[in-house]
Amino acid sequence: MSTGDASDLTRAALEALETAGGSGSVAATAWAPGRCTLVGEHVDYAGGRVLCVAVDLGIAAAVRPSGTARYLVVSGGAIVTRNDPDPTGDVGDHVLAPVVALRASGISVPALEVGIAATLPAGAGLASSAALMVATATAILRLLGAGMTARDLAAVALSAERDVLGIPCGPLDQRAVIDAPDGGALLLDCATGGEESLAWPWPDAVLVGCDTGVHHDVGGAEYRHRREETESGLAALGVTSCQELTDSVIESARVDPDVKRRLHHVMAETRRAVEAADAMRRADLGALGRLMSASHRSLGDLHEVSTPMLDAVVSAAEDVPGCFGARMVGAGFGGTVVALVTRDRADACRRAMAGACGGVTFQLRPSPGVAVLAPDVVRG
Ligand code: GLA
Repeated sequence: MSTGDASDLTRAALEALETAGGSGSVAATAWAPGRCTLVGEHVDYAGGRVLCVAVDLGIAAAVRPSGTARYLVVSGGAIVTRNDPDPTGDVGDHVLAPVVALRASGISVPALEVGIAATLPAGAGLASSAALMVATATAILRLLGAGMTARDLAAVALSAERDVLGIPCGPLDQRAVIDAPDGGALLLDCATGGEESLAWPWPDAVLVGCDTGVHHDVGGAEYRHRREETESGLAALGVTSCQELTDSVIESARVDPDVKRRLHHVMAETRRAVEAADAMRRADLGALGRLMSASHRSLGDLHEVSTPMLDAVVSAAEDVPGCFGARMVGAGFGGTVVALVTRDRADACRRAMAGACGGVTFQLRPSPGVAVLAPDVVRG
């Protein structure tokens, strides 16, 4: 991870607080990375497996006690003051949701002032929301001299999104942001909660991202609808995890053809994630790239969450010699495309992707999650 960037960002979060005035008391800080799925998209809410990394773009939070009983939030150039942390429809909602979730978990949190700084683009499929919740919750715990297990912190961050903000996300983003190993990938089993860390075996291959600039909303109707369709299909078959599905089981289901397509996606995608982890263990770059591209096609054809622009960016990357595969990342309907490419062809791949959509490109370096970064807070 480029820790220089993380400390610059933490300084920026502190400066945001300083410029807003407020209590002036000493702040605690925390930094959380974003997440990039390698293979295993739209399966976390179906009890599937996901291969993912945390990345070196992230969010920093600086938190200090309020000098009054009022909350102050400084984020993205906006300053908000509040009497309480409950959602009201402004920029403070996401920042203060962890306060509500921490209190619900039994932790006594005073009125706070919070400064936020980010290098992770919002709404770009890289788990900016989870990074924000985890960074803020970690900074609050640090301020209080409190600690939590990784599982409890993930539960608080997930509850902040689901219960406080009403966003129907699965468990992937919070787990990746917290549990990712240093310089490797995480294979998550969303049916059992189990996980395995895998080293990044290719010094000469990198991940490059292109944020198309078309941003999606996980709280929006399409994500919610895909989730409902998938869950209704699993329920009709009497199973709780897509890992239990087979072609013949799906074909036997008396469900809408759209629901069948969703089930075919989640069945194949969770298997691809397991194969992708095997490809990493064997250091088979070609196999991982092919699985990433197959994942993208399934997300477009069967789950119907891709867009013509995302498809164009994926094709542009795949056409670059030295690129092994590419796919959309996150919920879809816009956001980021990631490509797996040899280091010496990374710039060419970035130019091709940007040329297809006019978006912003960056390298995505596998980075440690908050359990590694904040052992004083994430305990046990
Ligand atoms: C969003 C959600 C996750 C997951 C992905 C798709 O990032 O927050 O829970 O469902 O989309 O894999």
